Amino acid sequence: EKQGFRHFMLKEIYEQPGVVRTCLEAYLNPDWEANQESPIKLGLPEHFYQDLEQVQILACGTSWHASLVGKYLLEQLAEVPTMVQYASEFRYAPPPITANTLTIGVTQSGETADTLAALAMEQQRRSGKTSQYQARLLGITNRPESSLAQMVAQIIDTHAGIEIGVAATKTFVAQLMAFYFLALDLAYRRQTLPLERIAEIIAGLRQLPAEVELILESQERYIEELAHEFNETQDFIFLGRGINFPIALEGALKLKEISYIHAEGYPAGEMKHGPIALLDAKVPVVAIAMPGSLYEKVLSNAQEAKARDARLIGVTPKDVPQATEIFDDLLPVPKMEELLSPILTVIPLQLLAYHIAARRGLDVDQPRNLAKSVTVE
Ligand code: M6R
Repeated sequence: EKQGFRHFMLKEIYEQPGVVRTCLEAYLNPDWEANQESPIKLGLPEHFYQDLEQVQILACGTSWHASLVGKYLLEQLAEVPTMVQYASEFRYAPPPITANTLTIGVTQSGETADTLAALAMEQQRRSGKTSQYQARLLGITNRPESSLAQMVAQIIDTHAGIEIGVAATKTFVAQLMAFYFLALDLAYRRQTLPLERIAEIIAGLRQLPAEVELILESQERYIEELAHEFNETQDFIFLGRGINFPIALEGALKLKEISYIHAEGYPAGEMKHGPIALLDAKVPVVAIAMPGSLYEKVLSNAQEAKARDARLIGVTPKDVPQATEIFDDLLPVPKMEELLSPILTVIPLQLLAYHIAARRGLDVDQPRNLAKSVTVE
């Protein structure tokens, strides 16, 4: 079943190019320009879009990280104000009800107790209100037969196939794809982006499967070797900004859940407000630095860490001289516009977490204290 891979997690990491391809086939509308239709076929009913004023996303764990990328996309591409809440927090302190809100539950398993309860609560507290305030519930899930799918009016099926490793990898990337599609669909309908820009983003999305393949082919051996150098490491810091800030969080979560190394993800600009005090030669810092609006800023934040003797690992394109000088180690990713880069930058972080944990001889697919679906509160 593992098809020659040592663990399901590694097999699932390698399934990612195929998953991205499947998502593109399922949701891109090839005739959109000729037929003057949305570039994305999500099959959502009209009333989901009508007078949309706000999106509210409820999720846990890795799905919550995907939702943060979703917020970035929905706000920056489609200009819809978006809130992302931990389902477990939302349940006990829901924000005031606002009109014309689309509520999205994101859960790969479709069975996470907190996410289901938060959605049920949202439906309940909006029932009996005027039509503007009624719940519009959408699920983003990998399991169309799940409890989530039965509870919400519509789902976006992320088509990632069953995931066995407790650490979510391919389902995360598939959730990101769902958010690219939703944001582009809304951007088209709300006319917040020129059509040429939509076409350009879609062309970029189409390149992703080959680029993910390239990272896997060219980086895995190197990352496996690099992992040997962290045998004694007890803390890691992951930095990112903008659309790659949630990827820093995800890199840290992957590492801590399977290797039991303490890891923190931070928006790079926040370092100086506290966490920089942790840094010394024993704490490696992984910085995601993709050319784009925040590139120089991230590099200067990375330099601040280097000045505290931290070993600096850069997730960055390799042929950018400035980056090669700053970083002690490079986890190179192909050049890609910042907006689409999370699907690439997360791959080396998954491999790094995997190889550090595998090297320590840990049970990567079933880490201690964790279950694949958290069906209790
Ligand atoms: O099935 P879900 O997406 O609702 O699961 C949410 C979290 O329990 C899950 O993402 C967890 O954080 C993973 N083990 C992360 O790898």
